[in-house]
Amino acid sequence: MPGVFSQLDLTPNRLTLARDARAAQGDLIDLTSSNPTTQGLIFPAEILAAAATSYWSARRYHPDPHGDLAARTAVVEYYARRSPPLVLQPDDVFLTASTSEAYSLLFALLADPGDNLLVPNVTYPLFEYLAALRNLELRFYQLDEERNWRINARSLRRAVDERTRAIIIVSPHNPTGAIVDAPLATLDLLGIPVICDEVFAPFTYAVSDTPPLAALHPDLPLFTLNGISKLFALPDLKLGWIVLNRPARVFAPRLELLNDTLLGANALSQHLLPTLFAQGETFVRMMVDRVRANLTLALQRFADHPRIHARPPAGGYYLFPAIDGWADEERLVLYLLERGVFVHPGYFYGEVPGCHIMLSALTEPTTFAVGVERLYAALI
Ligand SMILES: Cc1ncc(COP(=O)(O)O)c(C=O)c1O
Repeated sequence: MPGVFSQLDLTPNRLTLARDARAAQGDLIDLTSSNPTTQGLIFPAEILAAAATSYWSARRYHPDPHGDLAARTAVVEYYARRSPPLVLQPDDVFLTASTSEAYSLLFALLADPGDNLLVPNVTYPLFEYLAALRNLELRFYQLDEERNWRINARSLRRAVDERTRAIIIVSPHNPTGAIVDAPLATLDLLGIPVICDEVFAPFTYAVSDTPPLAALHPDLPLFTLNGISKLFALPDLKLGWIVLNRPARVFAPRLELLNDTLLGANALSQHLLPTLFAQGETFVRMMVDRVRANLTLALQRFADHPRIHARPPAGGYYLFPAIDGWADEERLVLYLLERGVFVHPGYFYGEVPGCHIMLSALTEPTTFAVGVERLYAALI
């Protein structure tokens, strides 16, 4: 059968089946959620409802390949408030349906089938599928666990070849939480366009800010991606953006055509965006505080554990601890499932030496605390 994914085995994997079977028995703590709306983090409905009211009577369809100007202006103002600030013009912003769609557009903008993109190992397992849509190869650069998952510059240089069209950096990184907090000389040296995914930007833990990578590399073509899925816990309202820095502006005319081809950004969500920035701050702070409190609870609990080695992440939602005494991550996760707690195995995110698990501190706090206790007891 021709077509993308035609060779892929689509039968559910062993862990999914085991999790479903264990969940059916009841009393399973799932520590893997990345979905704020199932963890009680609901953006205030009254703010959304009030902001939507003015949309309905005035609604007319005037599609703009960049997106609605008021929404783009709100994005520009958001980056001006960041530390350090990133100075932009509204035309540097392209609104999309999501960060995932933004990636897809950029892959089409920057690469031809057979070209390659550099992505971190370990990483969020979406890139493989997005790259397949364009028949692109992924090449991996390493993160150094002992340096709290900082980018290994030598492996980045080694991964580049003549068909490398972009370097993807996720900061804060999913799932290790690493944040790029200083310019990376290697990136300037290579001069290859960079795509920086900062969907976890407000979620800082061991550091106080997520600096926009584009502000650290003003001379490198850099595309910054974000959206409302994580920033405002609104994954259902489908809105993301691509921000071009000055050296990336040469790509704007073609990106305009690509975005015009899909016009994926929902007009109502664009209309809401200025209000989200203006009135969403209290909610975002509450959400960030919840994640921080969960991370602190887990780190304190695991501090004296002989097998669980968790270090404070710079940011993000997750913990990605190394587990001593286990060689097989799948067996470990199945063992934990039997003891009533579900986590992801490290191999979901790439190939890292040793044994790792991923747990999400987005989880509702009472559930999270029980899950942490179960992990502690199961692995002692
Ligand atoms: C690092 C990262 N980038 C992008 C996304 C997807 O964001 P969106 O919902 O805007 O497509 C996720 C979702 O979990 C993510 O973890």
